[in-house]
Amino acid sequence: MASYSLPFLLPQATLLLLLISNHIAAKNRPVPTTHHHSHHHRGLKNTTAIRLHQAYNALQSWKRVIYSDPSNFTSNWLGPNVCAYRGVYCAPFPNDTSITTVAGIDLNHGDIAGFLPEELGLLSDLALLHLNSNRFCGILPQSLSNLSLLFELDLSNNRFVGPFPSVILSLPSLHYLDIRYNDFEGSLPPQLFNKNLDAIFVNNNRFTSVIPPTIGSSSASVVVFANNRFGGCLPPSIAEFADTLEELLLINTSISGCLPIELGFLYKLRVLDVSYNEIVGEIPYSLAGLAHLEQLNLGHNKLSGVVPEGICVLPDLANFTFSYNFLCEEEGICSNLTSKGIVYDDRRNCLPEKPLQRSKKECEAEKPVDCYDLHCGKSSERKNYGGAVAAAADRSRLSSTPPPR
Ligand SMILES: *[C@@H]1O[C@H](CO)[C@@H](O)[C@H](O)[C@H]1NC(C)=O
Ligand SMILES: *[C@@H]1O[C@H](CO)[C@@H](O)[C@H](O)[C@H]1NC(C)=O
Ligand SMILES: *[C@@H]1O[C@H](CO)[C@@H](O)[C@H](O)[C@H]1NC(C)=O
Ligand SMILES: *[C@@H]1O[C@H](CO)[C@@H](O)[C@H](O)[C@H]1NC(C)=O
Ligand SMILES: *[C@@H]1O[C@H](CO)[C@@H](O)[C@H](O)[C@H]1NC(C)=O
Ligand SMILES: *[C@@H]1O[C@H](CO)[C@@H](O)[C@H](O)[C@H]1NC(C)=O
Ligand SMILES: *[C@@H]1O[C@H](CO)[C@@H](O)[C@H](O)[C@H]1NC(C)=O
Repeated sequence: MASYSLPFLLPQATLLLLLISNHIAAKNRPVPTTHHHSHHHRGLKNTTAIRLHQAYNALQSWKRVIYSDPSNFTSNWLGPNVCAYRGVYCAPFPNDTSITTVAGIDLNHGDIAGFLPEELGLLSDLALLHLNSNRFCGILPQSLSNLSLLFELDLSNNRFVGPFPSVILSLPSLHYLDIRYNDFEGSLPPQLFNKNLDAIFVNNNRFTSVIPPTIGSSSASVVVFANNRFGGCLPPSIAEFADTLEELLLINTSISGCLPIELGFLYKLRVLDVSYNEIVGEIPYSLAGLAHLEQLNLGHNKLSGVVPEGICVLPDLANFTFSYNFLCEEEGICSNLTSKGIVYDDRRNCLPEKPLQRSKKECEAEKPVDCYDLHCGKSSERKNYGGAVAAAADRSRLSSTPPPR
């Protein structure tokens, strides 16, 4: 699989990281605690002390439901100085920098086994929660809805189960969501696509039901749904992603039906990968409108008909894979992509002039599909694309890369 580049930056997150890393230097300074503070007296409240004591309660509760910590990640989670705990980062509160609070938790690659307790809701100022590559299991506590500043949530490569954690939908500041490589199942809620998210990684779970055709405008630049069993068709409402989407990865998501012409509306797209599905019909000519397309993978489907020249002349196209289909003609320059410096794979099609094609018998057995007549879903309603935006693939970002299991 190609390595996809990082198309977006999260300026706010970067700022937060900066705040946090600045604070690491100050981490070993004595840290305020509630000791000897009579904050029960009205007017004498020390907000820093209260916030950090709250965090202390949360982290101690968490430690109690950690059953295995082979690299001793949490062994210094002792005493009231939470800002010195490994993986815990304090920073000034955004609105009032005189207050110090727990702004980030990063236990990436900790291999820790345990649960997430309800008390995590006490970490109400958290901006980053990175738990990539641990063995946390169970479901997410509802109290996470208290984390109104949470900007990045990375739960990838753990053992979380159950339906899509709806508490995520109630996080107003969330911009980056990564829940790939878990055992979440069922359908993705449509509201997920109405949130102001830059990146959505849900690949390598057990999501099944298709996304409703009414997605609403998404703000995501990267959508990765690979290796789930969505089924259904890619709905025309995919066009709702047009103003932001740069990478759409639908690899191995059990999508069938034809590619909607609306794919061609995604004018910012650089990477489109719909490989390893059951897609039929012709390659929509509208893909020739994807002026920024660099990588196009249509391989391992049941596409038939012509490879349109409009795609082969796209200025930025560097890699065009359409192997393992039933395509029978390469229009114009498409038959000589080498001359354009484009990496390509056209094997196992029905291209008469090309080597390594399917047998005549195989090609004749595949009946062409008319996409105008084909409707998805069981209902006989007009254009009922019961279908899935399912996207795909595995990519890495910053330190949040889970190794595939
Ligand atoms: C081209 O794309 C295919 C499919 O995504 C990939 O397997 C291959 O490694 C890519 N080749 C290059 C040179 O990028
Ligand atoms: C709050 O407590 C911390 C340490 O306990 C102390 O450094 C800070 O000065 C206190 N702030 C106020 C306003 O009392
Ligand atoms: C963790 O702590 C235990 C007990 O102190 C020790 O035996 C073990 O070697 C430590 N593991 C690592 C990875 O430091
Ligand atoms: C921070 O200040 C802004 C603007 O005054 C306000 O809208 C927001 O709710 C405040 N956030 C918190 C967590 O207090
Ligand atoms: C939510 O955060 C507030 C403020 O930090 C705290 O007082 C409250 O207990 C938290 N609620 C939960 C359910 O953790
Ligand atoms: C496709 O995804 C399924 C799980 O949905 C997985 O078992 C299978 O190995 C994947 N196939 C490929 C070619 O990656
Ligand atoms: C492809 O194009 C190149 C350069 O334009 C040419 O040399 C080559 O003969 C062409 N190959 C075929 C099979 O037409």
